[in-house]
Amino acid sequence: SLPVPNVQEMVRSNPMQVPERYIRNQEDMPKTTDSTHLSCEIPVIDLSLLSNGHKEELKRLELACEEWGFFQVVNHGVAEEVLQGMKYSASEFFELPLEEKNKYAVASDDIQGYGQAFVVSEEQKLDWSDILSLVIYPARVRKLKFWPNAPKEFKENIEVYSNEVKRVGEELLCSLSLIMGMDKDTLLGLHKEFVQALRVNYYPICSIPDQVLGISPHSDISILTILMQDDDVTGLQIKHSGEWVPVKPIPNALVVNIGDVIEIWSNGKYSSIEHRAVTNKNRARISFASFILPHDDVEIEPFDHLVDSQQPIKIYKKVRYGDYLRHSMKRNVEGKVHTEMEM
Ligand code: SIN
Ligand code: FE2
Repeated sequence: SLPVPNVQEMVRSNPMQVPERYIRNQEDMPKTTDSTHLSCEIPVIDLSLLSNGHKEELKRLELACEEWGFFQVVNHGVAEEVLQGMKYSASEFFELPLEEKNKYAVASDDIQGYGQAFVVSEEQKLDWSDILSLVIYPARVRKLKFWPNAPKEFKENIEVYSNEVKRVGEELLCSLSLIMGMDKDTLLGLHKEFVQALRVNYYPICSIPDQVLGISPHSDISILTILMQDDDVTGLQIKHSGEWVPVKPIPNALVVNIGDVIEIWSNGKYSSIEHRAVTNKNRARISFASFILPHDDVEIEPFDHLVDSQQPIKIYKKVRYGDYLRHSMKRNVEGKVHTEMEM
C-alpha cells in the first residue's frame, strides 16, 4: 500500500488548503438536485418488535431489505451511556497529538491500527478521513497493541459497545433468516462464529466540501454493517433510485446495511447498496462502522432455495470469502466489487 497524508494534521496546519488529490471530478460530487426529501423515507425498524416476533415488523424489514438495503434501527436496547461513552472517548482520541496516535499506526501489510484508507495507485483520489481499525471478535485474534491506551476508558468502551453491537447483529441475523425463508437460527448456525471488525472514521472539517468526499462510493464486503453516526452532523449518503440520499441521523439509532455476503446468499434478492460520506465546513464528524464478516476460509454462494422463479439463475459463483476480500482490496475502482465476480 502507498502512504497517504494524515488529513486531520493537514487541516490543523492549514484549514484552507486542499491538495489536488482530494479534489473530485465534478460528476462525482453531490448533484444540485436535493434528495433530502427521500431521507425521511429510509425505513426505521424497531428491533424490540422484531425480536418479539412481530409479523408486521418482519414484513417491514423485508421491504427495507428489498427496496433500500439500508435502515435505521431504534429500540435496539443499547444504553445511551454506552453509545455516548464510545463517541466521547473516540473524539478525545482523535484530539490527541499525532505522535500519540501514531503509537497505534497501521503497518503497511495490515489493516488494524490508526491511519488512512489504503490506496493502490498514485492517481487514486483520496478520502478526507483518518481511521482507527480493530478486529474485535473472535477475541483470540485481537491485536491489543493497536487498542489505544488513551483516553483511559476507551478500550473498555470499545469492548462494551462492540458486545452490544454483536447482540444486535445476532438478533438481526435471526430476522434475516426468517425473511429469507429459513429457520430463525439458520444464518447464525451457518458458521462456527463470525468475525466482527470496527472502523472508526474521523472526517475533519473541509473548506471546500462540495469538491471533496469523506469516503468514496463503495459497497460493504460484510454480511451486515452496523453504523453509529453522529447525532447532529449528517454525512452518510446512499444510492437509491439513481440519487444520493442523505441518511439523516435519528438520535441514538443505529444504521444497518446489507453487505455483499447477503447479496450473494440471497442470489441478488437483497442488494448491498453503494454509499459514501460527504464532508462539511463546520464540524468534524465521527462514525463507527462495525462489520459482521465470515471467516476467510468459508465459502459463500447463493442458497439453493433462493435460486427460484424470481431469479432462476445462480448469479454468483461460489467463492472463498478470503479470496473475495483480497480481490476487493486489490482493485482500484469505486463502487461495487462482485459484479466482476458474477458468473
Ligand atoms: C462507511 O461506509 O464505512 C462510513 C460511512 C459513514 O461515515 O457514515
Ligand atoms: Fe461502508
